[in-house]
Amino acid sequence: MKKLLASYGNDDEFRLVAERIISEEEKKNNKVLANSLRRTLENSRATEPNHSLKGLEKFSPMYEGNNDFVERVEPSNAHKELILSFDNVRILKGLIEEYRYAETIRKNGLPLRTKLLFCGPPGCGKTLSAEVFSSTLGLPMFVVKLDKLISSYLGETATNIRSIFEFANNKPCILFLDEFDAIARSREDGNEHNELKRVVNSLLLFIERLSPKGFMISATNLDKSIDPAVWRRFDEVIWFKHPDKGMIKKFLKSRLKNIHHDFDSNSYADVLNGLSFSSLERILNQAIKYMIIRKQRILHENYLVDAINDEYRRNGGVEKML
Ligand SMILES: Nc1ncnc2c1ncn2[C@@H]1O[C@H](COP(=O)(O)OP(=O)(O)OP(=O)(O)O)[C@@H](O)[C@H]1O
Ligand SMILES: [Mg+2]
Repeated sequence: MKKLLASYGNDDEFRLVAERIISEEEKKNNKVLANSLRRTLENSRATEPNHSLKGLEKFSPMYEGNNDFVERVEPSNAHKELILSFDNVRILKGLIEEYRYAETIRKNGLPLRTKLLFCGPPGCGKTLSAEVFSSTLGLPMFVVKLDKLISSYLGETATNIRSIFEFANNKPCILFLDEFDAIARSREDGNEHNELKRVVNSLLLFIERLSPKGFMISATNLDKSIDPAVWRRFDEVIWFKHPDKGMIKKFLKSRLKNIHHDFDSNSYADVLNGLSFSSLERILNQAIKYMIIRKQRILHENYLVDAINDEYRRNGGVEKML
């Protein structure tokens, strides 16, 4: 209560303390009081002017803990067209809707899906999807550097880890744990009782207890071989795969829409099949660079062919060269 009074005039601090009081009442099983307090808090939010939302997320509270582990990032790629399978569009849209109806869903006693695992090979849209997700919802994105987090935990920084998770529990944001493999792998190797394993297990416990205001998204290249104890911690697992021919066509069309070219991009779907989106992106970037360097205004087919060959050579797949 003292904290609540002290936070007078500081809206963020006030809400933080108010949320704490409400969750304490919930823990004490004073459901009626907790619900009534939450309603009052939500109603006061509803009377805030609308313009305080979109565009102002840049000014949302910063994480002020140890900045070695967590970094606020601006989703710099969110403007790119994201190409997804039907299933993934459905799942991601569903999550966005759920977030927008969060209060009503919670009031009905139902849990929200807020802890997500993005799985799949490199360059297939895990990070890009997290960025698009963050900018669509207007939530700030914080990247947790897991390697630093894990090695530091052995020292005296457990409090810093706790503070990151507390931050995500209290502030609506996207907490992005990239290269989650670091955790999933560490459980596999080493002997039963190694120190690292202990650390990783406690991190998993933190994740389990986490109940984010926004979302916690973890990304990994590992597949099903991940320890089931790790899977279990997530409310939703989303698979990202290499693009199929339809997606390749869509990608080429989208990226070439403002560039004059003298070839039918659809006819390249076969030869590009099997590559990741980031390979496709690299091919197009390279072809466009050839055009610029040769002072051309049209992207000629031979630039594309050269760039495709560059990519196959780079990947060691010379037999597929054109
Ligand atoms: N689904 C997609 N739709 C459109 N472009 C994509 C898609 N996936 C990847 N790209 C392109 O490839 C780039 C790299 O993708 P991204 O960083 O999302 O890969 P990732 O799955 O996170 O890979 P990694 O496992 O290496 O972190 C993106 O910036 C974008 O240009
Ligand atoms: Mg990534």
